[in-house]
Amino acid sequence: MEVRDLSKYSGDSKVCTMLWERPVLKLIDQRKLPFEEVYFECKSVEDIGEAIVEMVVRGAPAIGVTAAYGIAIAALSFDGSQNGAFIEHLYKSIDYLSKTRPTAVNLFWALDRMKKLISGTGGLDTHAVTERIVKEAEKIEDDDLKINYMLGGNGLKVFEGAGPRLKILTHCNAGALATSGYGTALAVIRSLHKGGRIENVIVDETRPFLQGARLTAWELHQEKIPFFIISDNMAGYFMSKGEVDAVVVGADRIAANGDSANKIGTLSLSVLAKNYGIPFYIVAPLSTIDINTADGSLIPIEERNEKEVREVLGKVIIPEYMQVRNPAFDVAPADNITGIITEAEVIYPPFDKNIKKIFDSM
Ligand code: MRU
Repeated sequence: MEVRDLSKYSGDSKVCTMLWERPVLKLIDQRKLPFEEVYFECKSVEDIGEAIVEMVVRGAPAIGVTAAYGIAIAALSFDGSQNGAFIEHLYKSIDYLSKTRPTAVNLFWALDRMKKLISGTGGLDTHAVTERIVKEAEKIEDDDLKINYMLGGNGLKVFEGAGPRLKILTHCNAGALATSGYGTALAVIRSLHKGGRIENVIVDETRPFLQGARLTAWELHQEKIPFFIISDNMAGYFMSKGEVDAVVVGADRIAANGDSANKIGTLSLSVLAKNYGIPFYIVAPLSTIDINTADGSLIPIEERNEKEVREVLGKVIIPEYMQVRNPAFDVAPADNITGIITEAEVIYPPFDKNIKKIFDSM
């Protein structure tokens, strides 16, 4: 079995989100953190689908990379030699994975990349197509890691004049666990910390899945970055007391006008930040910008199983006869966003014009 050099994964971040041990993808099981560090093994495209739906892996870029490996696994595990059946099997796998989660556009971006690659392989045999698919999935993972570091670098530019030490509020987990290794919002926080510029990270617990309390806090703890956790409804209190210098979050899909979908609760934070005159930054790779979606009202919002709200860590806190709702994302309007930090540049308003400029030049 070919095992790639994994030393880069331990680089600056001590978190290993995924391990590609061809033909198996091992994902740290994020449902079990911070109490258990166990890996979920994906040997089939169905395992990959289950891992995405059940949130073994989550976070927009990590979902995209995982889906790409899903197609690599589909190719590697194909049982047969007929080229037509092979290609049909790959397209079916793409279709299956595209139904796992609806909001994070990186999933569709990665699957589209695979689709384009497959459609350009006419005349090649199954072995050659498989090798190209595996390479493409590995490239998507490697590129994501590189982009994470570029996001961190561009984030430093944003805070050049601020400080010297910053109190940054973040929501959900936009860290190494949500990417191939360094994070988006947490890439900026990690880079600031390296320069001694973090006084405190204020971590929203992020009900109902607790990505903040369980995952972001775990990552920051590993790297001894100072932080404290608050419940989501405390953010306004800390902002009103002058205890938040900036809000820095990730995104699952950014519309062409800058409206940004992210974990439920992000909209309220953006309103609060605007009210208190606190800068509000989105950090995301260009693959999170969906140029084909005109504005945030057109972004599909996932409603997840109500159990996630009804129960806390497996314990029922709301009886069955009470109704609950569980939208997993909301949209921070472009008007509330100070800047969008991407690997190419920091995009400032007017977002529609400036986003278009970047995509026109690509
Ligand atoms: O439901 P999740 O945990 O997949 O939601 C994740 C988020 O909302 C993240 O903030 C977003 O994907 C950015 S991750 C770099």
